[in-house]
Amino acid sequence: MAGMLALGVLVSGTGSNLQAILDAVAEKRLDARVAVVVSNVAGAGGLERARTAGVETVVVDHKAYADRRAFDAALVEVLRARGVEVVVLAGFMRLVTDVLLGAFPMRVVNVHPSLLPAFPGVHSQKQAFDYGVRVAGCTVHLVDGGTDTGPILAQAAVAVEEGDDEESLRLRILAREHELLPRVLQWMAEGRVTVEAVAGGRARVRVRAS
Ligand code: GRF
Repeated sequence: MAGMLALGVLVSGTGSNLQAILDAVAEKRLDARVAVVVSNVAGAGGLERARTAGVETVVVDHKAYADRRAFDAALVEVLRARGVEVVVLAGFMRLVTDVLLGAFPMRVVNVHPSLLPAFPGVHSQKQAFDYGVRVAGCTVHLVDGGTDTGPILAQAAVAVEEGDDEESLRLRILAREHELLPRVLQWMAEGRVTVEAVAGGRARVRVRAS
C-alpha cells in the first residue's frame, strides 16, 4: 500500500462518513488507506465500522486530559506513530487546538452539515431548518483555529422541500456528505489541492483540474 495517502479518521459518533471513506477505498474510488480510526468515545459506532473493515482503532478519552491541548498532543502521538498524512474529522465532536493543527498544517479536513459560513457550530441542520432556508447543504473544509471557519474545499447544495422536517433534511444533507468527503480526499490524494494566502490574510484553496 506504499504511495497511498495515509488517513487518520477521528470520530465521536455513528461514523457514516467514515463508512463512506472505507467504501470509497474498498471500491478504489479513493487512493488512500485508513491507517487508524481514533475516537474520544469508547462506544462510538464508528469504531465498530473500522473493526469490521480491519482498520486499527484507538480510544483517546478527552476526560483523561487536563485540557484540550494535552488531549490533542495524545492524538498527535497516535496519528504520527501510524504515519498519518491527512487527518479527517468525521463527526468528531471536540474542538481542536494549535497542537493538532500545527502537527498537520493544512492537512486537517472537516465535514460540516451546512453551507458555510452559514450555520457553524452544532445542530446546523436544525438551525437551517428553523431559519427557513430554501437551500441547505454541506461543506468540506480545511480546519483552522476557528469553529468551522477554515478554507473551503467543496460544497454541495440540497433543496429544502415542502414537507421536510429537521430529520428528513438532515438525512438528505448527510447523503451528500457521503459523496463529497471521499471525492475531496481523492483530490488531496492526487496532489491537486494547494492553499494560497489571499488579501486580508484569509487562506484560499485551489483545486487543480485533473
Ligand atoms: C455529520 O453530519 C457531520 O457533518 C457532522 O457530524 C455528523 C457525523 O455523522 N460533523 P457520522 O458520524 O459521520 O454519521
